[in-house]
Amino acid sequence: MRSLSKACLGLILVAGLTGAAHAQTPFGKAENAIKYRQSAMFIMGQHFGRIGAVAKGERPYNKDEVARSAAIAAEMSKLPWEGFAAGTDKGETHAKPEIWTDAAKFKSDGEKMEQEMAKLAEVAKGGDLAAIKTQFGATGKTCKSCHDDFKKK
Ligand code: HEC
Repeated sequence: MRSLSKACLGLILVAGLTGAAHAQTPFGKAENAIKYRQSAMFIMGQHFGRIGAVAKGERPYNKDEVARSAAIAAEMSKLPWEGFAAGTDKGETHAKPEIWTDAAKFKSDGEKMEQEMAKLAEVAKGGDLAAIKTQFGATGKTCKSCHDDFKKK
């Protein structure tokens, strides 16, 4: 009994230590970091896509809806980056290793997108559909540019 509880204690200690080794990020484990960045990208993509549908004339233009989607997308655009923590390059992910080997480029691509998305949110509030279309295009280019270099198909 005693040796069993010692063994248990040993296991708990080992679990605690490995837990600590993984807890360098606020996510606890790599899987959560991956889910976090994918979720932010997913929500951003959904709302950006809704604006795209309006820009292409597939959905009727509603000023409030577009402004809301752009505001959500702009908020989401700030979130994915912390999910690309060190040690989260393996698993259920489309992240390319270049994210970590060419981190400066990845960061600057991310910042460009955030800036364009923030502009889109501003323009969307104004209600000028032609300006929204133009800014949607400019923002979309920043997605593509990063995906081309840093995201597996
Ligand atoms: C700085 C780089 C970068 C920028 C900019 C970027 N993405 Fe991504 N995106 C990625 C990477 C890397 C992944 C893969 C993440 C993974 O699988 O861990 C991804 C994944 C996604 C996904 C899939 C999410 C899922 O469900 O797994 C969507 C959707 C997406 N991005 C949309 C967008 C849109 C829309 C934009 C522009 C408004 C954009 N991204 C801008 C790097 C970027």
